[in-house]
Amino acid sequence: MGRLFARMYDRVLQGAEDAGLRAWRANLLGPASGVTLEVGSGTGLNLAHYPATVTRLVAAEPSRHMRAPLEVRAAQHRLAPEVIDAPAESLPFEDATFDTLVCTLVLCSVSDLDGCLNEMFRVLKPGGRLIYLEHVAHDGGWRKVFQHILEPAWRLWADGCRLTRSTGRHIEAAGFLIDERIDEDMPLAPFFVRPCLRGQAFRPN
Ligand SMILES: C[S@@+](CC[C@H](N)C(=O)[O-])C[C@H]1O[C@@H](n2cnc3c(N)ncnc32)[C@H](O)[C@@H]1O
Repeated sequence: MGRLFARMYDRVLQGAEDAGLRAWRANLLGPASGVTLEVGSGTGLNLAHYPATVTRLVAAEPSRHMRAPLEVRAAQHRLAPEVIDAPAESLPFEDATFDTLVCTLVLCSVSDLDGCLNEMFRVLKPGGRLIYLEHVAHDGGWRKVFQHILEPAWRLWADGCRLTRSTGRHIEAAGFLIDERIDEDMPLAPFFVRPCLRGQAFRPN
């Protein structure tokens, strides 16, 4: 993740956060519990929303530019989350370590989507919960065509972010059972990053 994008990240999201994204984060994270791993934590915008039911929190973030503000937020957090340098494709944990896994606005940016999801599945305990929030491709029509046309330039500006992924299908293909899925437009976002899905999925017992 580039230094410029990391420095601008909170400001770029501010409008969407104020218009509802922050409330999405708070609602999503409400059921998090036990030993919890967040992948691609970015600057740490989720940290404020972890409930008291989380007993230990690890924040994995492979970009040193994102980790700098993340570490500042983590140092002030009651759970004292451990911040680690690890991509979601290669998580330095034993199988079935975590009760909860959190992934928000990350799967658009990873280079190996299925590899990440398989690795996240591996480190989650059977019965464990995946909390997700991702922006995805439009269903069809000119908006989807426009996403495809814009994607190469957008990837350069937004550090690898893809506009055209159908992430829900990949979550299921990795073996997760989607228990809750809300499809809703991201507030105050440009139309090409507007379609979002969020909810919970479980690793079957
Ligand atoms: C758009 S930001 C989202 C940050 C944060 N999760 C949020 O909700 O605001 C995408 C994040 O994914 C991280 N990222 C990119 N590739 C990754 C990978 N392979 N594994 C884990 N995180 C990755 C980036 O460094 C960046 O912090």
